[in-house]
Amino acid sequence: MVSDVLTPGEARQLGRLERHDTLEARNRRLAEGDAITMRVRRSDTARLAEFRIPYRKWMRVLDALNWVADNQAPDLAYRWFCGSKMCGTCAVRMNGREVLACWEAVEPDMTIEPLRNLPIIRDLMVDRGPFERKVEQLEPWLERSEAYSGFPEPLSHKQMKNASKALDCIGCMCCYSACPVIGLGDLTDFAGPAPLVQLGQTALDPRNDATKVAWSLALTGIFNCVSCYKCEEVCPASIPIVSQVIEPLKAKTAALVPDMAKHSNALRAVVAVRGYVDPSALVLKVHGLKALLNLRRALRLLFRGKINLLRTFLRRKTPASAAGARYLGREDVP
Ligand code: SF4
Ligand code: SF4
Ligand code: FES
Repeated sequence: MVSDVLTPGEARQLGRLERHDTLEARNRRLAEGDAITMRVRRSDTARLAEFRIPYRKWMRVLDALNWVADNQAPDLAYRWFCGSKMCGTCAVRMNGREVLACWEAVEPDMTIEPLRNLPIIRDLMVDRGPFERKVEQLEPWLERSEAYSGFPEPLSHKQMKNASKALDCIGCMCCYSACPVIGLGDLTDFAGPAPLVQLGQTALDPRNDATKVAWSLALTGIFNCVSCYKCEEVCPASIPIVSQVIEPLKAKTAALVPDMAKHSNALRAVVAVRGYVDPSALVLKVHGLKALLNLRRALRLLFRGKINLLRTFLRRKTPASAAGARYLGREDVP
């Protein structure tokens, strides 16, 4: 039963705890023996299978799944191994959000589904093959450009600050499931957040050979990432996937494989020079005058007010362009 007798102070505290997804916050809403409703998406039926499970203290989603497998559905397929947020095998979606079953506190009413963007083997078990094949293809290992100097190697914290974050990855695929670009399927050649985090472990290591890193990055389709942070929101290892892995990898790609960054570099240059996003200037910068060959599309954009050719050809600027010029002049801009 859900407790509704909280003082305002307790309610504030509870809200704070819930935002951090703590077991304590969830479990204070349930008393020992309360019935939990768990609906599970099973692969042999279009309907969700519903189970009622007796709550016990500190119960996690994995405990609930184990209870169902022991008492009501012995053929329920799900994976787990370590039970302690180490192996990354137990990831599922609970009420639409990616979680580790072994770490997530139960909710009074919850729907458990398999991860998205991976083929389903059965029930909650997904095939990790697409992820593993991509990681294998990227060859995310270290090839030194200089001979090993012996232990300990002179590496500063600053040099390793991004790679070391990526090393916390437990390969759970929560980020891969949450990524909307991976959800587009073959429409893009994007490798996805989890393979990029694996690659980041060595590609962001300053000892790695630049040619080798460029070769790997060329296979990632990294500029398809729209920086929506969905991956980062669900990462159980709290890895700053976008800010400390994908963005530094994008910067590396722009420096080592500039052809891949044509669109991003053009956008940055247009904004820096003009002080705003000018869509027609951007298209002209990326495709050149060839863009005008698609006259029908250009006219459609013009009539809808999406582009303003006069403003583009007169090279209109806003006061923000001064800051842009200073930005482009900075030495650290790749
Ligand atoms: S930030 Fe990029 S990798 Fe992460 S979910 Fe969004 S599109 Fe996918
Ligand atoms: S980056 Fe985070 S969410 Fe993605 S696989 Fe690694 S641990 Fe899981
Ligand atoms: S069982 Fe290993 S992380 Fe959940």
